[in-house]
Amino acid sequence: MSADALKKAVAEAALAHVPRGEILGVGTGSTVNHFIRGLATISEEIPGAVSSSEASTALLKDAGIRVLSLNEVSEIAVYVDGADEANHHLELIKGGGAALTREKIVAAASRTFVCIADESKLVKALGRFPLPVEVIPMARSYVARQLVKLGGTPVYREGVTTDNGNVILDVRDLTINEPMKLEQAINNIPGVVTNGLFAMRPADVLLLGTSDGVKTLKAH
Ligand code: 5RP
Repeated sequence: MSADALKKAVAEAALAHVPRGEILGVGTGSTVNHFIRGLATISEEIPGAVSSSEASTALLKDAGIRVLSLNEVSEIAVYVDGADEANHHLELIKGGGAALTREKIVAAASRTFVCIADESKLVKALGRFPLPVEVIPMARSYVARQLVKLGGTPVYREGVTTDNGNVILDVRDLTINEPMKLEQAINNIPGVVTNGLFAMRPADVLLLGTSDGVKTLKAH
């Protein structure tokens, strides 16, 4: 099965995790795009969704889903989003699509985070995928130097501006033994908006699309 077929299968399986009649959080990326297409079939049962990107907002509207701002809702029942990497504790690297900051906010505001991914995303240790860091443009070089001090090799993602008007540094060569500590250390660098480690708020459930079907993983 192709990676895209696995993404579609896992996205369809995620529809069973969507509580009808409650506000949903929706992530960003090609796996989530399949999920949004699936949501179109149950749009009348979804009162609204909080989106993590302009791209997902456009797709949600096309699917007939009302898009709400986070400031309009008190709580999100379930957040469904993809990942670039996931470990067995359901800690993630995200941000390959440059939507990490809004994704992290919506994940934090949600009762349950259901991550959807194809099996290639499951790793023993995070860090093969370069860690995306969203940075205020004027701080780009300063932040890059601080990331080098942490052992990383930052690369400016040319030509990309986030939905928040910022830039992305993709950081290779990091040793991520303690994801939560590294998440906090990078977030403490002035000029960093946030980084793509989701360890302080990991996923609660990982639905993994495999050639043997969709598997459900819980943190351990
Ligand atoms: C976007 C993300 C995505 O969830 C991540 O990049 C996975 O994308 P895809 O589903 O296309 O493999 O974090 O910022």
